Amino acid sequence: MFEALQPAPPDKILALMAQFREDERENKTDLGVGVYKDQYGETVIMRSIRAAEKRLYDEQKTKTYVGLQGDKSFCAAMGELVLGNTVSPDNYRVCQAPGGSGALSIVAMMLNRARPGATVWISDPSWPNHIPLLAGAGLKPKSYPYYDPETGKIRFDEMIATLQEAEAGDILLLHGCCHNPTGADLTLDQWKAVTELCWDKGLFPFIDLAYLGFGDGLEEDAAGVRLMAKTVPECAIAASCSKNFAVYRERLGAAILVGADTKQLDTAFGQLLSVTRSVYSMPPDHGAAAVRIVLEDAELKADWKAELETMRTRMTVLRQDFADALRRESNSSRFDFIAGQKGMFSRLGLSPDQIDTLRNERGIYIVGDSRINIAGLPGDRLDELARAIVSVTG
Ligand code: LMR
Repeated sequence: MFEALQPAPPDKILALMAQFREDERENKTDLGVGVYKDQYGETVIMRSIRAAEKRLYDEQKTKTYVGLQGDKSFCAAMGELVLGNTVSPDNYRVCQAPGGSGALSIVAMMLNRARPGATVWISDPSWPNHIPLLAGAGLKPKSYPYYDPETGKIRFDEMIATLQEAEAGDILLLHGCCHNPTGADLTLDQWKAVTELCWDKGLFPFIDLAYLGFGDGLEEDAAGVRLMAKTVPECAIAASCSKNFAVYRERLGAAILVGADTKQLDTAFGQLLSVTRSVYSMPPDHGAAAVRIVLEDAELKADWKAELETMRTRMTVLRQDFADALRRESNSSRFDFIAGQKGMFSRLGLSPDQIDTLRNERGIYIVGDSRINIAGLPGDRLDELARAIVSVTG
């Protein structure tokens, strides 16, 4: 059996993460995998989550199965967090999932049951795992232009022009906020135009929401998603709790289906649960139980929001400070775009050779498409880092 297999191509982000861990240099800098780090370079457990875990430890009485949907109270809390009161709970269903990737996968598999081999339009560029994940579910990926590295802005006219080629029933994958890998987000007016396009052409919006709260704030970051969800007849959202609750290894996310026709919505949700049963049966509980406790307790929820806001503002300040440092060192405005982008990532526009040189000679780890993790920037060494980057760009 195994002799029939070819080696799997390594995942670039995870391979870089492993390489960084093995690097024994003391002054190495990790700008690779998308995990939030504080000013000491640590990815700590959030206070609110820690408090919820303590409560869980004291109060949880059983480890028996929770069921296909997961923790129903967690699901209700996540529906409210993502959609607010823009969509009636009658018109959406939520399923707990193992991470944002798990949510993306189960929705993609369910959509492939509805429309086998359907086309899914993906931004160019996008998170590198989108294509393998969606193609693995049986969907056919096609790309739409999204980002102009010269200006650091969205190629919106080209995006819309390309999507005119899409056909009714095609799926449109969108990043809800904090676009990964570019940090270039649609404005609310652009969301309106994309929403109209989905409506006019009968496209199915599928929104990856992995960084809610990391851009402009919890409500602001959800605005595009909510506009879409309240306007189109059907859509799906894959929300991740990895980053905004910092529960990465617990693998926690939520798959949300929205539909105007509640009978069809229930059928779709039943298919979604049947996908989970056939793939992993039931989701892991621990992260969901902790997040549910946080979201249901007014004090813990307020503390979580304050912690999230601290993370968000730290990244905003780092963006500005790093853009300033690069401006000073390069004596140019070519990196100014970093300050105006959102969330955890920006692309520096470096070549693969320049990225290799930074890693080999300076211990600076950057993903091969020149994506940097803003939260990984060392606040006290920004000038040194900017100098190193400028030294390879010339
Ligand atoms: C990232 O983009 O770095 C994160 O979403 C981690 C991952 O799984 O790739």
